[in-house]
Amino acid sequence: MRQRPRRNRRNGFLRAIASESNLAPERFLAPVFLHEADATTPIASMSGQARLGPDGLLREAEGALEDGVRGLVLFPAVDEAKKTPTGNEAWNEDGLVPRSVRALKARFPELTVVTDVALDPYSSDGHDGLVAPDGRVLNDETVRVLCRQALVQAAAGADIIAPSDMMDGRVGAIRDALDQGGFEEVAILAYTAKYASAFYGPFRDALDSAPRSGDKRTYQMDPANVREALREVRLDEEEGADMVMVKPAGPYLDVVRAVRAATTLPVAAYQVSGEYAMLRAAAERGWLDERAAVLESLLAIRRAGADLVLTYYARQAARWLRD
Ligand code: PBG
Repeated sequence: MRQRPRRNRRNGFLRAIASESNLAPERFLAPVFLHEADATTPIASMSGQARLGPDGLLREAEGALEDGVRGLVLFPAVDEAKKTPTGNEAWNEDGLVPRSVRALKARFPELTVVTDVALDPYSSDGHDGLVAPDGRVLNDETVRVLCRQALVQAAAGADIIAPSDMMDGRVGAIRDALDQGGFEEVAILAYTAKYASAFYGPFRDALDSAPRSGDKRTYQMDPANVREALREVRLDEEEGADMVMVKPAGPYLDVVRAVRAATTLPVAAYQVSGEYAMLRAAAERGWLDERAAVLESLLAIRRAGADLVLTYYARQAARWLRD
């Protein structure tokens, strides 16, 4: 037999030479949940994850940097009393996110802080945009307030603004607003191909941010589609996105692959709450080897073409890679 693929798998050295993809902590961003309280409150459907208070957040940042994870993505659990139909709290400069960004950047200037732009944690409707009396989610009116939200986050010191709302034209509008505000160095990580997915369930539990009525299918993408993702990539590129994202990650690796081929920008993929919850739940029952299954899931996302992976396993995976 002349062809023996197994020869290149014969020992660790040869396997390392033949390896086509790798994992490294610099490729991870860790999403974290914040709340107004001081306590660390575990999230039932995301075992191992918690809502953090101000001290907990600083400890999390310190631990992440120690583990080699250099960026956090902040998601606020806003008090029910502060939620309104217009989500005004989203652009309150003394709100939970701007305060947390200032605290993080004061203490850890080298940490990359990513903030989420969308109204759902702040809106009494639980939608990413403003809701009209007839239930429609308004596009252009929403984009105007998202610009205000982005400016407040940039002024607080956010390094990367990540619009996750899926309104049309928001990347360009936010880019212009940031430039006019003197924030030309603040980057935009666009949730370019964000699907209307059932895998966000645990996240909505964590923030208590599920839509109060209807669903998100008039703005998030249809899970059946991939050509549409390429259209979104083209638009976000034209509008000035610095990085494009596919979300969820694991069930959408074909989309990651297609987006990778369609752009020269860095591609991010978000291993979302439901993907995390599935791995955790199986691991806790002893049905999966957690370390092996998680690292494999992350490697698969890298292999599909992601430069950057947002994952709730970021710190743990970084430690596994080190040990
Ligand atoms: C909302 C937002 C969601 C996630 C990130 N930003 C949920 C949604 O669109 O309903 C989900 C992340 C996850 O599930 O881990 N703007």
